[in-house]
Amino acid sequence: MTLCKSYKFPVLGDERGSLIVMDKLSGVPFEIKRVYQILGTKDGVARGFHAHKKLHQLAICVSGNCRMVLDDGEIREDVEMNSPSTGIGIPPMLWHEMYDFSDNCVMVVLASDYYDESDYIRDYQEFREYCSK
Ligand code: TYD
Repeated sequence: MTLCKSYKFPVLGDERGSLIVMDKLSGVPFEIKRVYQILGTKDGVARGFHAHKKLHQLAICVSGNCRMVLDDGEIREDVEMNSPSTGIGIPPMLWHEMYDFSDNCVMVVLASDYYDESDYIRDYQEFREYCSK
């Protein structure tokens, strides 16, 4: 079993360059309500360190590269993100940490709902307890 569910999107384009569409029709597994970007991450910084109770997300590294740790409370996986046409699914109850951001790294995250702090689990022990329920 792998925790890393990746979604490949077709790269459209012509002589002018490339174009990649991400919507439900092209394979995003939820209705997108929010899009946010993570960029300008300082050297040595790691982000994330949380899981969501209900939120579905798809993270795409549209420029540069970084690594993401995925953890379901039992298995821990470490994936490289470096493709603007590949999204990594972050379903509810998947702990994630991002690190090793390259200078030019831009991550775009598609989310199934608006920002809601009460949907976050930011404490790893609490996350483990939720998982075992
Ligand atoms: P956070 O989700 O903790 O970032 P990361 O997991 O990448 O470390 O968000 C950082 C801050 O930004 C936090 O104060 C909440 C705020 N925020 C919003 O206001 N709206 C959003 O959609 C997101 C994702 C974060």
